[in-house]
Amino acid sequence: MDLNKSTKIAFIGCGAVGKTLAVALSRSGYSVIAASSRTYKSAEDLSGRIKNCISYESIPDAARQADLIFITTFDNAIEPVVNSIEWSTGQAVVHCSGASSLDVLKAAEIQGAAIGSFHPLQAFAGVEDALAALPGSTFGIEGEGKLKDYLTQLALDVGGKPIFLKSSDKPLYHASAVSLGGVLMGQIAVIAQIWEDRLGVEKNEALKTLIPMVRGVADALDANGIPEGIAGPYVRGDIDTVQKHLDAMKSVGIKEMQMYATTALAGIKFAAERGVCKDEDVKVMKKLLNTYISENPI
Ligand SMILES: NC(=O)c1ccc[n+]([C@@H]2O[C@H](COP(=O)([O-])OP(=O)(O)OC[C@H]3O[C@@H](n4cnc5c(N)ncnc54)[C@H](OP(=O)(O)O)[C@@H]3O)[C@@H](O)[C@H]2O)c1
Repeated sequence: MDLNKSTKIAFIGCGAVGKTLAVALSRSGYSVIAASSRTYKSAEDLSGRIKNCISYESIPDAARQADLIFITTFDNAIEPVVNSIEWSTGQAVVHCSGASSLDVLKAAEIQGAAIGSFHPLQAFAGVEDALAALPGSTFGIEGEGKLKDYLTQLALDVGGKPIFLKSSDKPLYHASAVSLGGVLMGQIAVIAQIWEDRLGVEKNEALKTLIPMVRGVADALDANGIPEGIAGPYVRGDIDTVQKHLDAMKSVGIKEMQMYATTALAGIKFAAERGVCKDEDVKVMKKLLNTYISENPI
């Protein structure tokens, strides 16, 4: 396997991640030459963004053209797609899923292809926004030997930061990523809904008010680190305020109160590390939060 900038790269699965990575790699001088997808329209959409990239109706035909094949389908389509292709020893195949293990690429490995994964730790929706977000993003990489070195170089060339994952760490790695992505998004949406239902601000208007705060929170953590960047009444040991918050959230709903209480309880160890409130106050705060959590089951 000869891996360099003229290595021929194909993308199978032309959605948000496929299109974004294909364009980013092409702009960094890599040779993205083939695309195929469930629908020809998506393959054309990808190939139309890249000079000298050809779209194929047939997935095996597209894979046959390339030395490195990215499978950027839905997670549950990776294995059947890999199984539908005839692989050779000179090829490498990589998926971009944070949740799937390398087992889904087993059929390619058995036929002699090198296997790996390349997971961008970033939320992809529109291609242009995702391209703008790539620089500075982390890429979780699995693979060995030359392929690992090549994927590392790809990540660096699109402005990313590679990290290396053991297969056994993958579920926790992905759970942590989703806690920052989908779970945090859900939390923000819940707060916006509370603003609409209880404070009279339509939820997307509320979002416009809340997003600068989300950015400020990220900036504070970035600038000050853990534990210094963590703030709030539960960190300061302001027990009366936290009790009022718990009652207010409970008046909205048990799930909303539990969201506040369980997150504060998980984060309170950093209050202790920061040392801004007395050990005694940390104990009282934990007891208060635990009481609300256990006395109000969902
Ligand atoms: N979205 C994210 O934020 C994100 C972040 C990191 C990693 N990932 C991973 O990246 C991969 C792709 O995710 P995505 O967000 O790009 O998904 P997506 O936008 O929904 O695109 C998935 C693409 O897969 C194609 N596809 C589905 N089944 C297929 C099949 N059987 N054969 C060929 N193509 C098929 C679809 O094709 P058609 O358009 O032709 O129907 C679609 O374009 C997943 O493994 C995901 O876990 C996603």
